[in-house]
Amino acid sequence: MADTIAGAYDPEAFRAAGHRVVDMLAQYLADQLAGKGGPVLHGKSPDEVDRLLAGRIGAGPAGDPVDWFGEALRLAHHLHHPGYVGHQVAPPLPLAGLGEMVSALLNNGMAVYDMGPANVIFEQRVVRRLCQAVGWGAEADGILTHGGSVGNLTALLAARQAMAGYDAWTEGNREPLAILASAQNHYCVDRAVRLMGWGRAGLVEVEVDERYRLRPEALLPALQRAQATGRRVIAVVASACTTSTGSFDPIEPIADFCEEYGLWLHVDGAHGASFLLSDRLRARLAGVERADSLVWDLHKMMLMPALVTAVLYRDGRRSYEAFHQEASYLFAGEDPAVQWFNLGQRTLECTKRGLGATAYLLLRTYGTAFFAEYMERMCDLAQGFAERIRSSSDFELATEPQANIVCFRRKIEGSLESQNAFQRQIRQAVVDQGDFYLVQTTLGGRVYLRTTLIHPMTDLARLDHLLYQLLDQPLAQP
Ligand SMILES: Cc1ncc(COP(=O)(O)O)c(C=O)c1O
Repeated sequence: MADTIAGAYDPEAFRAAGHRVVDMLAQYLADQLAGKGGPVLHGKSPDEVDRLLAGRIGAGPAGDPVDWFGEALRLAHHLHHPGYVGHQVAPPLPLAGLGEMVSALLNNGMAVYDMGPANVIFEQRVVRRLCQAVGWGAEADGILTHGGSVGNLTALLAARQAMAGYDAWTEGNREPLAILASAQNHYCVDRAVRLMGWGRAGLVEVEVDERYRLRPEALLPALQRAQATGRRVIAVVASACTTSTGSFDPIEPIADFCEEYGLWLHVDGAHGASFLLSDRLRARLAGVERADSLVWDLHKMMLMPALVTAVLYRDGRRSYEAFHQEASYLFAGEDPAVQWFNLGQRTLECTKRGLGATAYLLLRTYGTAFFAEYMERMCDLAQGFAERIRSSSDFELATEPQANIVCFRRKIEGSLESQNAFQRQIRQAVVDQGDFYLVQTTLGGRVYLRTTLIHPMTDLARLDHLLYQLLDQPLAQP
């Protein structure tokens, strides 16, 4: 047994397996990027995949580990295929895979500086660069979390602590609190509110306009509605942009409202905050520098692997407020900001992966202009695709795209129910054909096909082909 364990750490075995795996991955990438790796998503059901993988974990070794890599690739959803136009999950830059390998091998989780000295600084460098892109100065600060859902919860906990007027973290909720957010907010905002113990009524929805943006005039009635039910509103969440349609809430008037009523402004920029790196696109978030907190996912529009989210605060001291519990065996019990390098003080998570390491590697290697160019191209592509849809008599747009998300539907006669069923049916038929993966969303009771143009090699010709395949599906029987 002792020899087997030592063998598992054998550097030469690692080198040999590594060469084979990297060769395999390079070929995989070449095939996928050329769209020649088979269907974007295989049609196997969960039960089929379960059966395929059953019975492999026994007491002893089960064959060549490199076989597992082949299997993982075969059974994956191929985000590197340029026909992948589904959710807001990026086909990561290949270099990220190598960065992640180093992070996994070093395992320098950084609840405290000693456990990840370089990772702590990589993270802080990334955070400071992003704060700079917002337009904030040296007093801004933040933290990385595993994803936008944890990020939004973290920021809202900080908002509660700052705005409650008492130590809500220690005492719990003394009174029913609430936040306002657009009816198109991501569901994790609602979850964050419920996790804070405010229940479903803790999120008061604000009406949106015909382009699915929060209507600033609807903020005051929403505030009054909340007050009428005995709720004290402490914050507004603006979406930049929304998940379904990529719509940007107008931050400037929302910031005015927050100023007037003394509310915390949180911007959920999980998808769109990356646009701050582009001179051309950043106007979509005009006013963001007035926010108290901002969530920014790097695994969406910055081509990084999941998960890496920045939670940024205009006043960096706020970043210590969400979780100011003492863990005396870890921290010395003084002003937490003195130990800014012990990151575990500021997140739900104790040990983290080296989130900042890969982000730092990619930002350092490619520079911010690279990401700006990529995002501009994707937004231009969305405009081009929307133009194709607009000029076709067979399709209709849900709304003009404001980002790289395009929602549309095929026009057919019949009841709303049958029209909706038809959109679902043609989406599934096209996904089954294998050249594309797209999703769907429901807006005002109408089902739309939803595409996120996130793969840098997706082009208009390919999207024309998508429209062709959608058109090629037979009309549903009445
Ligand atoms: C606007 C918005 N906020 C938050 C999230 C949640 O982010 P994550 O999947 O990183 O938890 C998403 C995910 O799509 C999103 O679009």
